[in-house]
Amino acid sequence: MKIGLNVSLDPSRRSSDAQDFDSAIRRKIVGQEDAIEKVTEIFQMFSAGLNAPGRPVGNLLFLGPTGSGKTRVVEAVAEALFGDPRAVVKIDCAEFQHSHEIAKLIGSPPGYLGHRETHPLLTQEALNQWHTDRFKLSLVLFDEIEKASDALWQLLLGILDKATLTLGDNRRVDLSRCLIFLTSNLGAGEMNEVLNGTMGFARPNGKIDSKIDKKMSNAAIEAARRKFSPEFMNRLDKIVVFKTLRPEHLEKILEIELGLVQQRILHATGNNQFVFSCTPRVKALLLREGTDFKYGARHLKRAIEKNLVFPLANLVATAQVKLGDYIRIDLNEEGIMTFVKEAEGALVPVLLEKYGPEFASQGAAKAGRHVGRDAAASGGPLIDHK
Ligand SMILES: Nc1ncnc2c1ncn2[C@@H]1O[C@H](COP(=O)(O)OP(=O)(O)OP(=O)(O)O)[C@@H](O)[C@H]1O
Ligand SMILES: [Mg+2]
Repeated sequence: MKIGLNVSLDPSRRSSDAQDFDSAIRRKIVGQEDAIEKVTEIFQMFSAGLNAPGRPVGNLLFLGPTGSGKTRVVEAVAEALFGDPRAVVKIDCAEFQHSHEIAKLIGSPPGYLGHRETHPLLTQEALNQWHTDRFKLSLVLFDEIEKASDALWQLLLGILDKATLTLGDNRRVDLSRCLIFLTSNLGAGEMNEVLNGTMGFARPNGKIDSKIDKKMSNAAIEAARRKFSPEFMNRLDKIVVFKTLRPEHLEKILEIELGLVQQRILHATGNNQFVFSCTPRVKALLLREGTDFKYGARHLKRAIEKNLVFPLANLVATAQVKLGDYIRIDLNEEGIMTFVKEAEGALVPVLLEKYGPEFASQGAAKAGRHVGRDAAASGGPLIDHK
């Protein structure tokens, strides 16, 4: 043993796994730093094995406007950890508004009519299904918790505090390896009021400054405190208020979404995987049509589907595009979108440029078909599935 050392340590340094996790999420989520910071912190704590025993790994409440990324963050965590955005046990609280519907979650006691037919959602097997040898964490999402019935609340309080649940047939479920996300639109109305200046805060040039952000965040947390019991609020590790997305965020989200449309095309079945690009004029049109503070990125996604995906689907269905084509999308003088085939057989080089050699080496013939859903965009999951 050496003694008398005086080596300074750096507690702010993160492991390379945690850094990879953080950047995988940052590639998908725009403008919600608080949420990313918090999930990375929890990831780091879990990988170091320092999460508190006998309770969930984390209890996070996401508040904020519709279409601001609350659900998307959870999907992005699932993609980063398990390579699949669906690697989440998702409970839509709106489906359990009546107390008797709780049987869908936990099953009914033996002897009850239909006992054998109910397959509870929240079993240990359902929670553990994504575990790997290296990584045993489950993601659970309770969506729209303000719509939960009293019975669901009771169940939730137990989960958040003790990380256990008793099923209808008395089996115990251990949720101590779960990261619990709860989402609610609660406070979105109040945030909107702040945004619209009806509470006395004018919005200079349509810009949202950080002071207004803070006021909006406080308005949402206040709304949550009014609605939810202190018992519940005290069990949360963190309340993250998602910010209203601004034009500069929507610009970045547009790029991400265009990349996802391209991925969809490359993963499509059939022999017509092609590559497209949009000129800045087209992007400006999509942003113009897709910007609505109230609906966040949902409105932008609708604009992309309507103006881009539907016409592209027509081109595919009528065999006007084929494998390896390069389509340039522009606006003409009347502001109408034009679709022009500029090259054929362009797939391999363009793929190389866009997604790197690994993707293109899958071969032009079935481009992307054998690559995991997310691998092209993110470099693949952090956790290997063997
Ligand atoms: N901050 C963001 N970064 C990247 N994409 C986003 C962001 N916010 C929204 N999106 C895009 O918009 C879609 C809808 O967002 P999401 O489902 O996360 O909304 P939400 O906040 O959960 O809304 P709701 O309260 O209505 O459920 C996402 O699938 C994603 O494509
Ligand atoms: Mg949602």
